[in-house]
Amino acid sequence: MPKKTTHFVCQHCGAESAKWMGRCSGCGEWNTLVEERIISVSQGDQRGWANDSAKKPEPITAVKAHQEERFTSGISEFDRVLGGGIVPGSLGLVGGEPGIGKSTLLMQVAAKVAQAQGKVLYVSGEESLTQLRLRAQRLDVLSPQLEVVAESRANVIGEHIKDRNPSLVFIDSIQTIYQEGLSSAPGSVGQVREGATFFLKLAKSLDIPIMLVGHVTKGGSFAGPKVLEHAVDYVLYFEGDNHNSFRIIRGVKNRFGSTNEVGIFEMTKHGLTEVVNPSQLFLSQRPVGSSGSVVVPCMEGTRPLLVEIQSLVGPTAFGGSPRRQTTGVDYQRFSMILAVLEKRQGYPLQNQDVFLNVAGGFKLSEPAADLGIAVAVASSVRNLAVDSSLAVIGEIGLAGEVRAVSCLEQRLKELAKLGFLRCIIPKSNSLEGKIMEVSEVRTVSEALQQIFGNQQKGG
Ligand code: TYD
Ligand code: MG
Repeated sequence: MPKKTTHFVCQHCGAESAKWMGRCSGCGEWNTLVEERIISVSQGDQRGWANDSAKKPEPITAVKAHQEERFTSGISEFDRVLGGGIVPGSLGLVGGEPGIGKSTLLMQVAAKVAQAQGKVLYVSGEESLTQLRLRAQRLDVLSPQLEVVAESRANVIGEHIKDRNPSLVFIDSIQTIYQEGLSSAPGSVGQVREGATFFLKLAKSLDIPIMLVGHVTKGGSFAGPKVLEHAVDYVLYFEGDNHNSFRIIRGVKNRFGSTNEVGIFEMTKHGLTEVVNPSQLFLSQRPVGSSGSVVVPCMEGTRPLLVEIQSLVGPTAFGGSPRRQTTGVDYQRFSMILAVLEKRQGYPLQNQDVFLNVAGGFKLSEPAADLGIAVAVASSVRNLAVDSSLAVIGEIGLAGEVRAVSCLEQRLKELAKLGFLRCIIPKSNSLEGKIMEVSEVRTVSEALQQIFGNQQKGG
């Protein structure tokens, strides 16, 4: 009988089993067993890329610090999320829902890099070569330096990479990659993880950067990118939906740079184009003069971005429970702000439905947008519009106080650049020099007084 080369390991408790079982005999959890190769001690060092086991530890000061060289992806919004460009020998993951534009963007990057750095290999396990050509044609990026192959066996792809020695490799997608020797299906946790380890080793040993494409579904239940986040050097996710054309690429992990940068794109009929002035785009459809809308200067990484927050408040249908619905903001934060409005400002929201939306499909991640949320809700409750040349910024505390925010100067400069005349800011922020007219407030109450004056509620 041939020696068994794989076994199953529980993802929950680590128990091993010779055969697959629906329920782990160790911890009793369901569906946690994953197929893995059996690694003998002598083979063990072949798994990782640091396979020179004879090396001794040395002082960190004795390690040669060669300058990390990067090369540009040819698309500056993409470079921004990468932390300045592509690092040789790096393994990255580009994730997102199916159809969001991963293959489109990566084909564009592939063509740019092929032009500047020479040969690029695009491996597709999902699409035929004809489909790839049609996409490249549509994007107008056909080039003989861009080599394509439809393949999903990991070891064959490995041979192609060694043979062609490209400047960059794309694997589209990791869910289609198949490791011979593992009996589990492509896309299963075991296959995806083994595949990532295989490409990690390859990237490091050949010093060739590799980008993996990973699909995630809305539910996130798929054995996908989440399991390989720890194995790769950087992880970028696509945000946005099919209802609008904006695509935001967010770095969630980066061993070579900051993770709080976003790249902003628009899907057009010629692929993804960079958005040069995102604030302008996000504000382009703002309803001027209607209640419930306010602009907030947010920071996305190192870049200020103006976003519109919209709210609609109306009486709950008789007998129903009040609805609270948000898109683009953290629900916990939103609930806290409503509680402050109710308790500190006396807003009667118990029998009101409250909807909140960040225009353009953008997701707000910083508490500095709190005051914007409060003002949008208050504006809808009072049915009074906020002056369209006014913006607000500030974090809200439970006592109804408005707290300081970071990078105030940068935020105000962006507002001034786009023609805003006044901004409500936290008093606790110290501001040097005059960028635009500001009104300093200590509390939510002062802010609402500044914006709506003594005008009657529900006027
Ligand atoms: P795709 O890159 O295939 O998505 P993914 O690889 O993430 O699954 O993008 C698919 C969508 O993009 C598809 O609905 C069509 C649209 N698209 C354009 O709008 N313009 C274009 O130039 C291209 C190539 C695609
Ligand atoms: Mg695709």
